[in-house]
Amino acid sequence: MLVDLLSPLHHNLPARAAGAPAGGRIEMHRTGVRATKPPPLRLLLVAGARPNFMKIAPLLREFRSRPDLFATRLVHTGQHYDGAMSDVFFRDLEIPKPDVHLGVGSGTHAVQTARVMEAFEKVLAADRPDWIVVVGDVNSTLACSVVAAKMAPPVKVAHVEAGLRSGDRTMPEEINRIVTDSLSDLLFTTSPDADRNLRAEGVPSRKIRRVGNVMIDTLLRFSARADASDVLERLRLRPPYALLTLHRPSNVDDEAALRRIFAALEAVAREVPILFPVHPRTVKMMDALGLRMQAAGLRLIEPLGYLDFLHLQKRARLILTDSGGIQEEASILGVPCLTLRENTERPITLSRGTNRLVGSDTRVIVAAARRILRARSGRPRPIPLWDGRAAARIAKVFAGFVKTG
Ligand code: UD1
Repeated sequence: MLVDLLSPLHHNLPARAAGAPAGGRIEMHRTGVRATKPPPLRLLLVAGARPNFMKIAPLLREFRSRPDLFATRLVHTGQHYDGAMSDVFFRDLEIPKPDVHLGVGSGTHAVQTARVMEAFEKVLAADRPDWIVVVGDVNSTLACSVVAAKMAPPVKVAHVEAGLRSGDRTMPEEINRIVTDSLSDLLFTTSPDADRNLRAEGVPSRKIRRVGNVMIDTLLRFSARADASDVLERLRLRPPYALLTLHRPSNVDDEAALRRIFAALEAVAREVPILFPVHPRTVKMMDALGLRMQAAGLRLIEPLGYLDFLHLQKRARLILTDSGGIQEEASILGVPCLTLRENTERPITLSRGTNRLVGSDTRVIVAAARRILRARSGRPRPIPLWDGRAAARIAKVFAGFVKTG
């Protein structure tokens, strides 16, 4: 048996920080013969915007549960900075305080991306991790991947939620996905369509690992806690209700599309109350167009925390959204979902889940909503590997690198 005298568990510190030699941790064998064990893999995790936090949470938990294998640090780029868009997720999901906060804030795509790149380059130069781990498709994901790939020598990039493609290059997220995937050394996917997309773009199969969906890890872990939320009482709301989110530039920044959607919402709201936690981007546009005044049937509220929102999703009669992640969550929860977009990068939610694409056409949205309201409630249908163990599978892949060096 090996007695790990300098174990980080002993010191509650990563081995290198505890002053262990760079080549590995020294261990004493019973016979007194010295053996070495490889040092923990140094991982730098990046989170920037709201949809990143529920993906980073299970990864951080998994990596930090094995300090003998992984020395993990968390960087928050500060792309989202409001209490309602960021802080509440750290509290709800028990994410430890970031080790580094870049504080980049808002700006045009170029400005925001450039600010992240500039600040992140300094972090990487000082930290020199073995890998950076990025998730999803926001500007921070792209910015940090580019910086890592261009360091000398390069820092390896692992992309969690790789291979999703909407085929629509007018979406900023699609550009972020394509660039991030093309620079990544390891691509963790959620579904077979993602693997196919990557292979079609020439990514070698050895870099692709289908592990499932880390966002569903979080949903399953926090589902019971979300049940305890008193958000419905606070809102004085009772089922049935519909839940709406809307923030894609293609809907929100396009006046004609936004007006078509609002016309549909007014009609649907005559049949069922619609609860609408409004994203800051959408508030700005609604104010500019005077739509806030017209939103008679809609109940506008501030963006919600994770647990409150999950509580509302689970009990909704219908979800209307243009978010990527909510299509997946609704599918696993068995709640009918109408996606206010012409395409989705998550086709498995159409073929195996509860999702349906309705675009921004007023009549199509209203007809689809009425059909759902008249039908019986949906049922959750399992999707392979969306089982709460995706982060554990990812950690296992990285653990293999510790052993092989
Ligand atoms: C970003 C992501 C999108 C993700 C969404 C979830 C990109 C390209 N887009 O879009 O993929 O689905 O987050 O929320 O990375 N704002 C605030 N407070 C905040 C954050 C933003 O007021 O905490 C305002 C900004 O000033 C800006 C607007 O909201 O005017 C949009 O923020 P931005 O980060 O540019 O993009 P999102 O639309 O949030």
